[in-house]
Amino acid sequence: MVDDGKLPDWSGDGRRRVLVLSSTPRREGNSRCLAEAAMAGAAEAGHETVFVHLSDHISGFLGDCKQCRTADGECSIDDAHRKIFLDLYLHADAVIYASPIWWYGISGQLKAFLDRMFCYLSDAWPGVEDAIAKVQGKRVAVVLSAEESNLPARLGIASQFGELCRYLDHALVGMVVGIGNTRTEVLKDPLDPAAAARELGAQIFEIEATDYQLKTERTKRIWEAGAPPYPGRWR
Ligand SMILES: Cc1cc2nc3c(=O)[nH]c(=O)nc-3n(C[C@H](O)[C@H](O)[C@H](O)COP(=O)(O)O)c2cc1C
Repeated sequence: MVDDGKLPDWSGDGRRRVLVLSSTPRREGNSRCLAEAAMAGAAEAGHETVFVHLSDHISGFLGDCKQCRTADGECSIDDAHRKIFLDLYLHADAVIYASPIWWYGISGQLKAFLDRMFCYLSDAWPGVEDAIAKVQGKRVAVVLSAEESNLPARLGIASQFGELCRYLDHALVGMVVGIGNTRTEVLKDPLDPAAAARELGAQIFEIEATDYQLKTERTKRIWEAGAPPYPGRWR
């Protein structure tokens, strides 16, 4: 992977597009190891992948839009959020979010990226209708790294992405958490989260994480003959 701090573009070659948003500031970070593994899986499956090291590009938080918005409705915060959101995110078919667990939540970098999507999904932005149309219908996977391995530490983040995806009409297909603290230590996690992340990336368009309602029509047996869908991946 070329990592020169520059933002790539989609090639437009017709393959399905997987955007990887890696939010640790550490280039050899644990969550970044998992992000790269997930990206490799997606690439091996034949999808186009674009990798963004968010710390290189997101320089500020969401502001008071009344002060930040220019007269023509644009965000005046001078960084690459606009390009990442409008050119990469909106045109992606799937998004892989990667974050360290910081204080039992996602990194500030990733939160700032998500918060600032609001600028383009608000009525005050001239392109809002197009942005709302394009932002929906994506597939989403999440890879995280943490020092602690207890389950409750992850539930807040799982819930946050569950709600984010419900709101944006995204399909959340899985989440992988690797345990590690020092750089790349996650690769020593005996549960091999890098392999799980790779598989998650490879199957991001095939996984069906079911979310039934009483009225949902379904067969009683889940694993019917033929090719069953891959189930959601949570670990
Ligand atoms: C500011 C900060 C807060 C952290 N908070 C947590 C936490 O709440 N739970 C946890 O398990 N690990 C926590 N950690 C440890 C990191 O999650 C862990 O080192 C992770 O692997 C770092 O990922 P990275 O190498 O991709 O940056 C924290 C680390 C930092 C720097």
